[in-house]
Amino acid sequence: MHKSTFMFLSWLILSAVTLQSQAVFAGDPVANLRADVANGQTIYNEGKGDATACQGCHGEKALGMDAMAAPRLANVGQRYVIKQLIDYAAGKRTDAGAGAAMNDIAKALNEQDRRDVAAYLDLFENEMESSDLKSLAADGGKVGNPKNGKIIMTKGIKHLVPACQDCHGLSGHAPNIPAIHQQKYVYLVNQLNSYRNGSRANDQIVYKVGIMRGIAKKLTDENIADIAAYLSTVPSLKP
Ligand code: HEC
Ligand code: HEC
Repeated sequence: MHKSTFMFLSWLILSAVTLQSQAVFAGDPVANLRADVANGQTIYNEGKGDATACQGCHGEKALGMDAMAAPRLANVGQRYVIKQLIDYAAGKRTDAGAGAAMNDIAKALNEQDRRDVAAYLDLFENEMESSDLKSLAADGGKVGNPKNGKIIMTKGIKHLVPACQDCHGLSGHAPNIPAIHQQKYVYLVNQLNSYRNGSRANDQIVYKVGIMRGIAKKLTDENIADIAAYLSTVPSLKP
């Protein structure tokens, strides 16, 4: 495929996702609810009913924990967080590990709660806490090479995979597209594997293909480890 055709395709997909997100939110019953950040904070720190306190797994500052395979939630994107909670509650996203708890947790939150907790998570300072690649390697895992991961993030893989930053941005995010820099290593590897083997299938379908499933299918184990090594240790890319 020509580079220009390839870039045009990425652009087309990005536009479709953005439009789709707007459509989802225009008809979304929670769109007009005002967020109560204080309620979001209480849920995050203390839980609510069957929803166990989020901080127990996602960390006090919502920066995620490799030991729990739990993702960073702070500043990943408010709309994206709401979408994931809706998908978990509907059973559209399921996980076999510690994340299996997420389905019941999301169900225990009502629409307003989901909006509140997502709004709270968006107010965190954009703090950094890189994954400790050395200790992950010492635990027996083979960790990737951040330098190679950077190339895939910024340039993609020729004729095969678009640059991740085309959609995910350098440090920010389009509505509904999560920030992935400073995400945790173990979580990133798990997600890319799950998209690749189809066990995570709640990504938007554009032209009959799940966006992230299509991309992950083209990645090797080594690519995935390299991308995770880069993203989980890169300092904020904000200018
Ligand atoms: C028992 C541990 C645990 C608790 C408690 C917990 N989570 Fe999670 N959560 C996880 C794990 C592990 C994952 C990753 C699942 C996966 O790999 O698919 C996750 C995933 C998520 C995601 C998806 C993030 C993304 O980037 O796609 C969201 C959103 C989330 N949790 C929100 C919450 C909220 C809000 C609460 C509190 C009401 C909470 N979680 C409580 C363990 C937990
Ligand atoms: C065409 C746009 C597009 C491109 C290019 C793209 N992504 Fe994504 N990505 C998305 C969207 C949209 C989602 C959210 C799917 C959902 O709502 O569940 C996503 C989700 C993800 C997630 C899950 C994040 C989380 O918090 O759970 C990871 C990890 C990810 N992408 C990594 C990558 C990597 C690595 C690349 C490059 C190899 C890449 N993406 C390229 C659109 C894209």
